[in-house]
Amino acid sequence: MSSRCSGAGASPFPPGFHWGVATSAFQLEGSPNADWATWDKALLDHPQVTHHYELYKDDLKLLKDLGVNAYRFSIEWSRIQPAEDTWDESAVAHYQEIVDILRGYGIEPMVTLHHFTHPRWFIERYPWHRDASRGKFLRFVEAMASSLRGVRFWNTFNEPYVILLGGYLEGCMPPGLRDVKRSLLALRNIFTCHGKAYDIIHAHVPGARVSVAHNMSAFAPWKRWNPLDRMLTRTAKYFYNHSIIDAFRTGVFVVKFPFSRPIEIEVPIKDKLDFFGINYYTRIHLRFNPFRKMGVELRHIDMEGSGLTNLGWEVHPRGLEKVIRYASRLKVPLIVTENGIATHDTQRKTEYLKRHVDVLEHCLRQGYDVRGYYYWTLIDNYEWLHGLDARFGLYRVDFKTLKRIPTPAATYYSYLIESRSGL
Ligand code: BGC
Repeated sequence: MSSRCSGAGASPFPPGFHWGVATSAFQLEGSPNADWATWDKALLDHPQVTHHYELYKDDLKLLKDLGVNAYRFSIEWSRIQPAEDTWDESAVAHYQEIVDILRGYGIEPMVTLHHFTHPRWFIERYPWHRDASRGKFLRFVEAMASSLRGVRFWNTFNEPYVILLGGYLEGCMPPGLRDVKRSLLALRNIFTCHGKAYDIIHAHVPGARVSVAHNMSAFAPWKRWNPLDRMLTRTAKYFYNHSIIDAFRTGVFVVKFPFSRPIEIEVPIKDKLDFFGINYYTRIHLRFNPFRKMGVELRHIDMEGSGLTNLGWEVHPRGLEKVIRYASRLKVPLIVTENGIATHDTQRKTEYLKRHVDVLEHCLRQGYDVRGYYYWTLIDNYEWLHGLDARFGLYRVDFKTLKRIPTPAATYYSYLIESRSGL
């Protein structure tokens, strides 16, 4: 009602809303000393992926052309500290130059300190389930917070739960374990690092805004009539989406695996959050299947009939509203730090963008405090365990010639930014 009174159709996007794109260093530029460099054989032919480490100036110019006012990117730790006792000042200078170029374009940088990759020496000697991991990571945080100038927005970790699921439960990411006990030790160490990193960044950067980027999905029972499918769905929602939000409110993780007693883990993260980053892509259906691990079977179902994405994911824009609703319990500003689609079909990419931004607009009209939207991603890149053909980019990359070719979705995003921000 109030929005009608204040002028029908007025843009609900607040001034200073971040219209951005998100990337991660390793996915664009690789790194010879990263654990992932040898983890996925698909990278052996393309160790430098898009060659962004050399072509960064041209790529940053694409941001300017798009008209975004914010850019989320990560610092590749294995470039800064290729060996335990070696700090590469030229790598620090490289990322500083990126920040300076962005500032020159009037684009707000948001830095992610950990986006899945580690220096190989770290993951071999100090993987997250060892307490020694904390000191090693925090030295890197201290080095970045004390040397990078001009960065206000910081993500300590990208998708901490994906690190735990991939690295400790499914074993598909380094350190490649399937070990519940160690996953819980890793959880405690990673979140303890977040809490301490929060303080370190604030000690060095006046006015810093610090967060994590949390991967949230919509979940639904495979068969609504089946109480076991419904029970699994509740458990998955709690475990995957909500428990981290509650832990930021209380300082305690309550870990509930299906069919077992909850475990409580204390972590020093209560209120260590200036905003909350949400990475949202899709919906997952769940079914109880006694022949699967923990009785859980996951599936993407094409409920709309418009087809799954190149990664086999369902497109489900309304899920974004659900996760925003739950995250708003945190009572800090929310930022959609990632949202995007892997497809060769640029028409679908355009529709995906429009439909998710429509949901966001609806959320803003309802009064949710959302301060930014970052499309994943700028140019096609390396997709974890899927190689180079996922095609999330607004710009298509020809991996032979390294040419960046604008897709109609890039033009559309520029238009969307202009029209929705009420410019
Ligand atoms: C990750 C990105 C990844 C994207 C698409 C997000 O969960 O942060 O690194 O490329 O999803 O899978």
